[in-house]
Amino acid sequence: MAPTPPATHAHDPAGAAPDYVRSIAPYIPGKPVSELAREFGLAEADIVKLASNENPRGPGPAVRAAIAAATDDLSRYPDGNGFALKAALAARYGVGAEGIVLGNGSNDVLELVTQAFLKPGDAAVYSRHAFAVYPLATQARGAHGIEVAAHDYGHDLAAMRRAITARTRIVFVANPNNPTGTWIAPEALAAFIASVPQDVLVVLDEAYNEYLEPTAVAPSPQWIDRHPNLVVSRTFSKAHGLAALRVGYGLMHPRVADMLNRVRQPFNVNALAQVAAVAALGDVAYVEESRAINRAGIAALEAGLRALGLSWVPSHANFLLVRVGDAGRVYQQLLRRGVIVRPVANYGLPEWLRVTVGLPAENQRFLAALGAALAP
Ligand SMILES: Cc1ncc(COP(=O)(O)O)c(C=O)c1O
Repeated sequence: MAPTPPATHAHDPAGAAPDYVRSIAPYIPGKPVSELAREFGLAEADIVKLASNENPRGPGPAVRAAIAAATDDLSRYPDGNGFALKAALAARYGVGAEGIVLGNGSNDVLELVTQAFLKPGDAAVYSRHAFAVYPLATQARGAHGIEVAAHDYGHDLAAMRRAITARTRIVFVANPNNPTGTWIAPEALAAFIASVPQDVLVVLDEAYNEYLEPTAVAPSPQWIDRHPNLVVSRTFSKAHGLAALRVGYGLMHPRVADMLNRVRQPFNVNALAQVAAVAALGDVAYVEESRAINRAGIAALEAGLRALGLSWVPSHANFLLVRVGDAGRVYQQLLRRGVIVRPVANYGLPEWLRVTVGLPAENQRFLAALGAALAP
């Protein structure tokens, strides 16, 4: 938690914000390509951005065509209930549409859960080195975040279960986790969910689900009937290649969905995003190809890191957490060479950098730049 800036001036308009808002440490996004180009006088085309875990291929041709066709009708508000997208998701996952909440990115779904279920004085449990939005969204509600020590950089589910108190309303679990890429086996996950009291929501964040090998995917949507306190969140920002359009979704019990919909903005998912997401869901082959390209990219990065004598955390997602020592210095050296990765000191990992798997040439650019950056 960042120190609370004092309300220095009697007329400081920020002084009226609650302490728990003023003490929020803002989310640090990956550096935009245009910003680095400006700062270092580089050509945008020469910059490689491997900093935000996007799919380097972008969306597939079917999705691009669907977006292009939908631009004729931008004067009307989108369908606030996302009928077509919910129908497609319901059919895909064998769940009812009334248990689906669409979000402006899955980030929005995470925020909606905290808005609907946390009040000042409540608590939320999450792991150390887990996705930054869990503490941010918790703190923005005036609730108390309980950060549980990690085990081998991943979630220690037994310790997280023990951290739940009478004040706990939400437990966040990221699978795979960002920024560590760690993964929890379905059996362990199922046992954990069964052990959590029914009046505590388990938010299972599966943003990287599509990058898992099929045998590693948990049948989590099917667990909701048995565990009405389970919320599964997913996104079109990662393997589906639609990060710029902002669309994600949560699968949950209809009574929980009803609560989220009460605090949701009526038109939180734009029309192009809805059309694109339906098309993306239908293009199963494209996602499979992206997974295969990612798998090869992980292997290429691992080979290059091994040759540089570096260590990393084995990843089940589309990024690798690499130990480089003085990560701040190495990050700057990479920037000079036109390569943007993600420093993760704010995740309690000051010696590490997170690199997103790119296209083959991008991965090689990163490895070459890293070798040069580490040279004495
Ligand atoms: C674990 C995890 N959850 C959720 C998100 C949010 O993604 P989006 O809002 O684009 O769906 C991210 C993005 O990096 C993530 O890493």
